[in-house]
Amino acid sequence: MRILVTGGAGYIGSHTCVELMQNKHEVIIVDNLVNSKESAVERIAAITGKAPLFYKADATDDQAMDLIFSTHKPDGVIHFAGLKAVGESVAVPLAYYRNNLLSTMVITDNCLRHGVNRFVFSSSATVYGDNQVPFLETMELLPRTNPYGETKAMCERILTDVAKVNPEFSVTLLRYFNPVGAHTSGLIGEAPQGIPNNLMPYITQVAKGIRKELRVFGNDYPTSDGTGVRDYIHVVDLAEGHALAIEKAEPGVEVYNLGTGKGTSVLELVKAFEEANDLQIPYSIVERRPGDIAECYADASKAKEKLGWVAKRGIVEMCQDAWRFEKSYEARA
Ligand code: NAD
Ligand code: UD1
Repeated sequence: MRILVTGGAGYIGSHTCVELMQNKHEVIIVDNLVNSKESAVERIAAITGKAPLFYKADATDDQAMDLIFSTHKPDGVIHFAGLKAVGESVAVPLAYYRNNLLSTMVITDNCLRHGVNRFVFSSSATVYGDNQVPFLETMELLPRTNPYGETKAMCERILTDVAKVNPEFSVTLLRYFNPVGAHTSGLIGEAPQGIPNNLMPYITQVAKGIRKELRVFGNDYPTSDGTGVRDYIHVVDLAEGHALAIEKAEPGVEVYNLGTGKGTSVLELVKAFEEANDLQIPYSIVERRPGDIAECYADASKAKEKLGWVAKRGIVEMCQDAWRFEKSYEARA
């Protein structure tokens, strides 16, 4: 298939492009590089031995998208492009609603105009809100605590409504849990700008000496050791889930959790990282982070049953691969 990947220079998008190209699909990347670098495209080429087509363009730009759709006539789209920093979304909500909603509407509209029937959307476990674990696709979604999460829930609604009146259109909503790790080549991975918000990149920066110590946000949650529990998933497993989702797409709407189904606490992750990489991560316990929930992990049985997808890589590989990428990432001290 010929697949248009918006946000394909980003963290999850770049790993998915590698997976798609290794599965013999043709890839066209659209990315405005607001949170990534063009070098990611070169690195995808270095891993796969073939350069993907790349457009530096904005997915909210209808004219530019129309030209790309009419030139390349893709068979399907994976829409990763979006802004994703939770704290920033509270500070500048309009920028988040505008970018995430408008890009989704423009890309969807182009799909309908150009007869592209496969649409895979990057959603998030954040849409469940503070629900009962494990999270199941059929659960009623509870309110989110930030505009970022709202944009994901709203895009899911928009796509579902569009699919209702376009019976040929296939929408796959992928709700990711906590993507971590990197490609084993060490060439692509997660390279956040500034101080990382998420746990794994913070740990790797402490390991590298960029940050002094990890701050553990609360140890009084009702969990095994009091720290927050999450379902960490290796980004390459996630990429494999995308390839299967677009290959197996059927008309209508399907929702899949992409997680391992296993919860890991903050302190368990720290210990696993130390053991996997034979180093120490200094940390201190501080106040809870506002908006955090105690536990978040998937019931991942639907993806197994219907897509034949399971996460194969464990916590040790996630920690080793994240550290390999951090060590080789040249742009930081
Ligand atoms: P990322 O920031 O690395 O990748 C997103 C890419 O989209 C970037 O390369 C950015 O430059 C690009 N982009 C943003 N707005 C654009 C626009 N208007 N036009 C063109 N390109 C644009 O983030 P990621 O972690 O790879 O996330 C990819 C998607 O998955 C996002 O939609 C994110 O919300 C979603 N998601 C991520 C996580 C996570 O923990 N990483 C979890 C759940 C969902
Ligand atoms: C965060 C986002 C969520 C998004 C997800 C993507 C918030 C409130 N939620 O989720 O919307 O979909 O990232 O992966 O930001 N922790 C520390 N110290 C740190 C960083 C994190 O103790 O420096 C803890 C957190 O309290 C949490 C766990 O580590 O218990 C994981 O945090 P994080 O990586 O930020 O992910 P989420 O909170 O799950």
